[in-house]
Amino acid sequence: MLETQWSQKIRQFKRSAWRHVPSAKWYHKTVDKPSVGTEREKKIISRYAKGLILDAGAGSGRITNHLRTLNKSVIALDISVEMLARQVECGSNICGDVEALPFKNETFDTVNATWVLVHFPNWKEIVRELVRVLKIGGTILFEMSSKEHLNWAKEILPDIEKKYSSAQAYESFETVDEIYEELRINGVRIDQVIPYDFLNSNEFLKFLCGQNESCEKQLFNLLSTAEAIDFWCRIEEDILSSFPPGMSHKNFFIANKIQMVPLLDRNYVNVNMATNLNEAARLAMKIIGQKKEQLLLIYLDVHYYSTLYSKRVRRFHRKLTEIFSQFLPIDPISIASQCKKETLLSELKQGHYHGNFKKDYAYEDENINILRHVSLKEEFSYWAEKLVTTWHETPPNKTDISICDVPFGPIMEYELMKEIILQTPSSVYFALDNEGQ
Ligand SMILES: C[S@@+](CC[C@H](N)C(=O)[O-])C[C@H]1O[C@@H](n2cnc3c(N)ncnc32)[C@H](O)[C@@H]1O
Repeated sequence: MLETQWSQKIRQFKRSAWRHVPSAKWYHKTVDKPSVGTEREKKIISRYAKGLILDAGAGSGRITNHLRTLNKSVIALDISVEMLARQVECGSNICGDVEALPFKNETFDTVNATWVLVHFPNWKEIVRELVRVLKIGGTILFEMSSKEHLNWAKEILPDIEKKYSSAQAYESFETVDEIYEELRINGVRIDQVIPYDFLNSNEFLKFLCGQNESCEKQLFNLLSTAEAIDFWCRIEEDILSSFPPGMSHKNFFIANKIQMVPLLDRNYVNVNMATNLNEAARLAMKIIGQKKEQLLLIYLDVHYYSTLYSKRVRRFHRKLTEIFSQFLPIDPISIASQCKKETLLSELKQGHYHGNFKKDYAYEDENINILRHVSLKEEFSYWAEKLVTTWHETPPNKTDISICDVPFGPIMEYELMKEIILQTPSSVYFALDNEGQ
């Protein structure tokens, strides 16, 4: 089939796919529920969406409803009446076509189009129409699947494009440069590119896991509670958002319509690209290495409040650590043993990190108090036992550091770990591993 016929077929299919009651019902039931991708999108969109907002291809209100609960002023437009009928929050809903919007030029302060452009081979035409109705100075928000990701994926799965070859499964994959160029032509400049939703269709992750699909599935299964999703969202936001586009399957774009079309600012988006998977893995490790203190802080923060966080969060974290342990220092003890004492302490004391745990921890005299919380103690015991039993294979470096004066140098660390292990019956901390899903 000719390229144009093929793209016409996909376009027609996507325009009608959600116009039937069963498909609209199915979409609403399966997609309109918390997931890492949705939570991240909601957070990013609610931060940048201002003034009069158009939610283009709004569907059953996954994003519209959220914006309306925040009292934002949103017009939801979709070609499917059946999808619009499922929106729960009241507001202006319009049945219309994103390819020919029923609005004057420069009407909206913000245009959001999530899970829309990615479905269409003619996404560029739709972008032009979205930009037309955007005011100068306004913001356009959308996500796109990453061609950088697809190119890396081909290294491990040469046939990967077949996965997206039917009209039903079609996705547009574009590089940041291609999107940058298209927006530039339309007088829009990218402000931020955020890779997100890392655990979804991520071939890079499979590469790190040795192409083991079950790793991804196991992690996904553990991500079914709000607490586990929240924990992972924080890791994505604070650490993984610095990864180059391509390490996640999708990127979220935040771009502004400017009066002057910029000519020579192609470096505006500082994309530090890696050309192959091994290089990408090295780059990822480097970034994680720079963020290890944040990783520890998120970890401690979560565990201090672990009465609020479910056991599932801890099991999710353990599974993640098990999978990534060959690449990343992701257990609390090995991260701690690599953090700079001064930086860590000053972060804790200045309260740089969100959450309140530092208020209680940072000024306490009794060293062991940092470990007083039962679940935190269990976690340290768990990891201490794992680490101590592997020390004979790789002895730790001789460094003398501490967290809030709890010593973590190898000798003291060993003593501390021994104490914790002896204090906590292993039946307690290993029990978590054996619980059903
Ligand atoms: C995958 S859903 C995304 C819905 C919503 N934006 C979200 O993030 O959940 C795609 C939506 O685009 C709508 N759509 C497809 N073609 C359209 C068009 N030409 N004009 C307006 N909406 C369209 C569909 O009806 C469907 O509701």
